[in-house]
Amino acid sequence: MGRTLPLVALLFALGSWKPASAGQPARAHHAMVVSREVHATEAGLAVLRSGGNAVDAAVAVGFALAVTHPAAGNIGGGGFMLIRLADGRTTFLDFRERAPATASRDMYLGPDGALTRESVSGYRAVGVPGTVRGFEFASTHYGRKPWAELLAPAIELAAKGFPVSGDLADSLKNARPKLELFPDSRRIFLKQGAFYAPGERLVQPELAGTLGRISSAGAREFYEGETARRLAQAMAQHGGLITLADLRAYQVVERQPLTGRYRGYDLVTAPPPSSGGVGILEILGILESTGYAKSGPGSAASIHYTVEAMRRYFADRSEYLADPDFVRVPVAALLNKPYLAGLRKSIDPERATPSARLRPGAPPRVESSETTHYSIVDAEGNAVAVTYTINAGYGSGVTVPGLGFLLNNEMDDFAAKPGAPNLFGLVQGEANAIQPRKRPLSCMTPTMVLRGGRLYLVLGSPGGPRIISSVLEVIQNVLDFGMSLEDAVASPRFHHQWLPDTLYVEPGVSPRTAARLAARGHRVERIGSMGEVAAILIDGGSLQGAADPRSEGHAAGY
Ligand code: GLY
Repeated sequence: MGRTLPLVALLFALGSWKPASAGQPARAHHAMVVSREVHATEAGLAVLRSGGNAVDAAVAVGFALAVTHPAAGNIGGGGFMLIRLADGRTTFLDFRERAPATASRDMYLGPDGALTRESVSGYRAVGVPGTVRGFEFASTHYGRKPWAELLAPAIELAAKGFPVSGDLADSLKNARPKLELFPDSRRIFLKQGAFYAPGERLVQPELAGTLGRISSAGAREFYEGETARRLAQAMAQHGGLITLADLRAYQVVERQPLTGRYRGYDLVTAPPPSSGGVGILEILGILESTGYAKSGPGSAASIHYTVEAMRRYFADRSEYLADPDFVRVPVAALLNKPYLAGLRKSIDPERATPSARLRPGAPPRVESSETTHYSIVDAEGNAVAVTYTINAGYGSGVTVPGLGFLLNNEMDDFAAKPGAPNLFGLVQGEANAIQPRKRPLSCMTPTMVLRGGRLYLVLGSPGGPRIISSVLEVIQNVLDFGMSLEDAVASPRFHHQWLPDTLYVEPGVSPRTAARLAARGHRVERIGSMGEVAAILIDGGSLQGAADPRSEGHAAGY
């Protein structure tokens, strides 16, 4: 616990609240890209304009973000891509990192049995990256443009540089304690401690070289070529676990998206090893038919109901959610209507249920950080939602010498010590304990909502466990409270994750509402901003794109 709390506080402090002024959304008639950063959005838009589809654009945006948004954009991490083709077919590409073959359950415990910091910082924190193989799989199976064309904008941004924004300059400066520990990170991202000023160009020649080799030789280069050899060599030199064999063995898994219905809308969302899709459907399933929305958005009563549903879901998450290739995850049971009705009945409309009194539920046995998100819809109606990550901002802090990219610290998403909180304060159980080649449980939740069988909403967010709350609350704001997309994204957010038993609220939640929630028994704590939603709403022939006013996101279409 002592290890975790300051980190949690730091994470919350990093997300500085911005006045949630709902600006105008971008509007377009054909296609839309919403991502965290303007150059990446422009790269995606250029691919769409030149005949690429939404999957091509998603790959180009992902590689561009690896250059322009180093806190989370990556080739050294992993993520999820949710695809819905214009003909209604859907798929989910899981390119989440995996534990190396020599990883073990207690590898982050010191001799005293206490957690060390090795799951968050340095070479031992790194899971086998999946992004490059994920993007190649997407491009080969669902794209149409040549691979090299999709990497070209990223290579140019890395080779020629781009002007550092105010946000990026601040973010890099704030990451100093992590990045200065590793010589290449210090040189590339901190200018040897001199720091980048807003407007100064960030040029990344080593990254341009790595991307250039991937452009010429494909993902093989990253997993078996020079990049792989240098990565494995650096791991061996610095006590990391990833070997050439781990890299060579990395596989993308194509999964069925998780689907569900809520008040006549169809949701298509992320299956395990994401915990997010189950979370959205379980929470909405508890809320359905409570009439919670009658009291209005932002009211103490509607927040109370939502928080009580969140609390129950996160308790279940701690027990049941994990990599489905290693653990039987009872998805159908957790979303079973009588089970959800039981959870609903256990909510007192006037009083918070103390988390200490709440254990994970007993669903019936039926079979059946920093991160970034971008959303894309093309002119044919194909849609892609990608959330990918290196876990905490700037991941493990390690830039592999000579390769120019940061490595993840995704190993911390495992239950490094089941029952003890991780970087996000999340308490997780045995199901998510470390095992060789297992994927750590994630909260990333790329999601789509269909209305009358037609694509209506495409969205997702970064934010560790707050991803689930951020995505959920934007869905509620649009579906239950009838807000415009820009208001839905800008509205103040709140979050509860069972443990710690704290209701986190953004500063935009009014003092009166906070006092009413406290009177119901919630321990209310104000934090900086949470989540950075990138959303597209499709209404008839028009597209609206909303980047989150909490960040420097950028929506553009044509
Ligand atoms: N690394 C954050 C997540 O996957 O939930």
